[in-house]
Amino acid sequence: MKAVVRDVYGAPDVLTLQEIDRPEVTDDELLVRVRATSVNPADWHGLTGTPYVARLVMGLLKPKPERLGIDFAGTVEAVGSNVKQFQPGDEVFGASSGAFAEYVSVREDRAVVSKPANLTFEAAAAVPVAGLTALQGLRDHGHIQPGQKVLINGASGGVGTFAVQIAKALGAEVTGVCSTRNADAVRSLGADHVIDYTREDFTRSGRRYDLLLDIAGSRSWPECKRVLNPTATLVIVGGPKKNRLLGPLSHVVKVSVAAMGSSQKAVFFIAKTNKPDIVILQELLASGKVRSVIDKRHGLGEIAGALRELGQGHAPGKIVITV
Ligand SMILES: NC(=O)c1ccc[n+]([C@@H]2O[C@H](COP(=O)([O-])OP(=O)(O)OC[C@H]3O[C@@H](n4cnc5c(N)ncnc54)[C@H](OP(=O)(O)O)[C@@H]3O)[C@@H](O)[C@H]2O)c1
Repeated sequence: MKAVVRDVYGAPDVLTLQEIDRPEVTDDELLVRVRATSVNPADWHGLTGTPYVARLVMGLLKPKPERLGIDFAGTVEAVGSNVKQFQPGDEVFGASSGAFAEYVSVREDRAVVSKPANLTFEAAAAVPVAGLTALQGLRDHGHIQPGQKVLINGASGGVGTFAVQIAKALGAEVTGVCSTRNADAVRSLGADHVIDYTREDFTRSGRRYDLLLDIAGSRSWPECKRVLNPTATLVIVGGPKKNRLLGPLSHVVKVSVAAMGSSQKAVFFIAKTNKPDIVILQELLASGKVRSVIDKRHGLGEIAGALRELGQGHAPGKIVITV
């Protein structure tokens, strides 16, 4: 099969499209013929080996997994002897490592579910990592409640476009922060209010929120605190990549330390790819309450360019790869 591989950390140019063996399927796994995948900042970190602290997990001197990619949508090609819920020909989507390839294997009990019929493979492949991050950030770490005022900083990117829709589906009043060119798109996703960060400083608006989902990680704790109600929560999702040792973690540490002793909370989390949550996303997608926003489509041989675009940090919605 064709797969995107690399054996060193580096810029997107280190990626090559090679012919390698298909993954072996164990008794509990299914083999999926990938029709589409999408790129996430996690792929960028895995590619570049930054922040350096992450190399403790990813491989100190060279990357331990040679393959990248997490999100996939495709058709089940084969199933192991213990697999009960899927059979060859089923259309599925989910998350599993090594998804920048023609085939990926995934355990039946992990993050893989049937693809709703109303979604294309591209639309489904845009969902897993970004959608799970938005859902878990709002629900598990922000403890979102119906009627709450929720501010989403970074509303137009991969995570943000899902967060706006999921927060609305959970009954919140949503304000999205994005740049001018994405304001209409964020409004069309259901945001009640949109703040264009190039024209207005949301931390000086005088308005207050019960929950701030900070995907962009562009503001300090004192700035964020100004817009938080006394018992509000700031959920940190991402942050600037500039610090090569710690990356976004440097922002997380600064905010968390500064927030100590305050009546408002600042929390950071790393999203988990799991079955129950991808089932929730499947239902939201099938009902039409949530949809994917696709910025661009590329072929498998164009992953380097797709990752370069993602690395700029201004993709409106998701960059999808058709396989
Ligand atoms: N904690 C976790 O488990 C987890 C999981 C996934 C992602 N993340 C992190 O979350 C962040 C975003 O991921 P993503 O997939 O959504 O990335 P993305 O698709 O590249 O989106 C980034 C978005 O941020 C917006 N943005 C950039 N500067 C901004 C600013 N100053 N104010 C407001 N918005 C700004 C951009 O919109 P404009 O073009 O309008 O500026 C762009 O749409 C990354 O740091 C990533 O590492 C964390």
